[in-house]
Amino acid sequence: MSADERTTGRADDRSTARADDRSAALPLHRSASPPPDRSAALPLDRSASPPLDRSAAPWEPRLVAFCCHYCAYAAADLAGAMRLDYPPNVRIVRVPCTGRVDILHLLGAFLDGADGALVVGCLEGDCHFIRGNLKAIKRVARARALLDETGVGGARLEMRHASAAMGPKFVEIVQEMTERVRALGPNPARRPAEGGP
Ligand code: FES
Repeated sequence: MSADERTTGRADDRSTARADDRSAALPLHRSASPPPDRSAALPLDRSASPPLDRSAAPWEPRLVAFCCHYCAYAAADLAGAMRLDYPPNVRIVRVPCTGRVDILHLLGAFLDGADGALVVGCLEGDCHFIRGNLKAIKRVARARALLDETGVGGARLEMRHASAAMGPKFVEIVQEMTERVRALGPNPARRPAEGGP
């Protein structure tokens, strides 16, 4: 065996020995720290927390506001930009014009569990579709009469007007309606499963 072969042979021996050292060290580390027993912890956590009792939560009125894109929706947006607080009970539905809101949309909101509804459009004479808000006034009046006839109560529905610059006015409208509906109580057409009477 030449001097080079003897040298290469020693280098191979050293690298083999280092590899053997690493392979010998790994099992030792793994066996030193056993994996946590996750399967035992999960069932204990679930049984420890009782189911949420939703019936214990105080009743809060739920409102739907049909807002025209050009004025009322912009007023609601402005109220948000001005960081004005208004009740979180209202869900806003943006419509191109209040003239697009049909009696079926209004009655449907109550059938779906709303306690009150608002239709908020441009100021009279300012409708971008000329007569849309005037048609909406008539439809809201008709829907109120139907709600009275069915026992739900026409007072739960209101038509109001606000321009795009009337952020504070929009807040006032929502606060007023929320308080009115709170005084009226839950929608009698709401099913018991939805938190009705
Ligand atoms: Fe606003 Fe018609 S565009 S009510």
